[in-house]
Amino acid sequence: MDMERVLVTGGGGFLGSHLVDRLIAEGHEVLCVDNFFTGSRRNIDHLLGHPRFELLRHDVTFPLYVEVDRIYNLACPASPIHYQRDPVQTTKTSVLGAINMLGLAKRLHVPILQASTSEVYGDPEVHPQDESYWGRVNPVGTRACYDEGKRAAETLFFDYRRQHGLDIKVIRIFNTYGPRMDANDGRVVSNFIVQALKGEPITIYGDGSQTRSFCYVDDLIDGMVRLMGTKPGFTGPVNVGNPVEFTIAELAEATVRLTGSQSSIEYRPLPADDPRQRKPDIGIARDGLGWTPHVPLEQGLEKTIAYFRGVLEAQRPLDRAA
Ligand SMILES: NC(=O)c1ccc[n+]([C@@H]2O[C@H](COP(=O)([O-])OP(=O)(O)OC[C@H]3O[C@@H](n4cnc5c(N)ncnc54)[C@H](O)[C@@H]3O)[C@@H](O)[C@H]2O)c1
Repeated sequence: MDMERVLVTGGGGFLGSHLVDRLIAEGHEVLCVDNFFTGSRRNIDHLLGHPRFELLRHDVTFPLYVEVDRIYNLACPASPIHYQRDPVQTTKTSVLGAINMLGLAKRLHVPILQASTSEVYGDPEVHPQDESYWGRVNPVGTRACYDEGKRAAETLFFDYRRQHGLDIKVIRIFNTYGPRMDANDGRVVSNFIVQALKGEPITIYGDGSQTRSFCYVDDLIDGMVRLMGTKPGFTGPVNVGNPVEFTIAELAEATVRLTGSQSSIEYRPLPADDPRQRKPDIGIARDGLGWTPHVPLEQGLEKTIAYFRGVLEAQRPLDRAA
């Protein structure tokens, strides 16, 4: 593959930093744009000083004028704790961020990929969800800033294609986990692992029978890169996620077992608008991208647990000094 100059917005975040690693490993030049609202310099520390890596602190709600060959638009807080902290900013990031990045792609005539989400399906009535399902989202609930923001962003992407002929790609990401998730963002995998490693009770919201499918980050990034590599006209939306379902209770048990923790399991009330079931139909990803996930949950959990062990150990001397 020829070397390209690739813009990754949200490149300091969990998924963005793994994407940047992959693109650098493939020999590309990467311009990472992030305002560090939720991301962390730690995620990209190892790349600072790399001759093909550049970091720009910038908020995508403002226009950006740079020269690149491809754009991956990932900037957006992704966990409910973070996106509900400043819901107006969340909608602005999704909508104005999409407008600004699409404007840039239009000026440069380059392909642009949008990191959308399974949340566009809301609390679905069909199971598993395929891309033809229009979703069931509460437009006035506390999750709407994220769900509706992402839905509006998808609309903008498809309108830019219809109106301006842009080469767009839309990936609908299902729950993804792995190293560099934020320990404090309330996402279920990181929550459980950190609680287990600290020997604290594991908190399950609801009765634990709600199911989720968990995709390991390397699989997800592979799907994203494959989608970007498709011919113009292959727009998606494409579901990328792991269709193997686990209940939240099963995830808690696996985490306790793999960490060797003594943690107990505690149950709390389910938050508003929490979807009961979410599982991707990955037919389009399989047939159109030749993509299927490869990393089984246990293997991915082990790598993620090893990462969080390192994070907690690094914090320990600081805790002692405080
Ligand atoms: N992780 C998942 O399971 C998942 C699932 C569905 C969709 N997604 C989508 O993938 C993308 C990345 O998610 P993530 O899990 O890496 O989240 P993350 O919070 O770790 O990363 C998001 C990054 O965007 C940056 N950002 C936020 N607002 C910004 C702004 N206005 N300008 C510039 N940068 C900004 C943050 O600082 C952060 O580095 C998001 O768009 C998210 O909606 C993720």
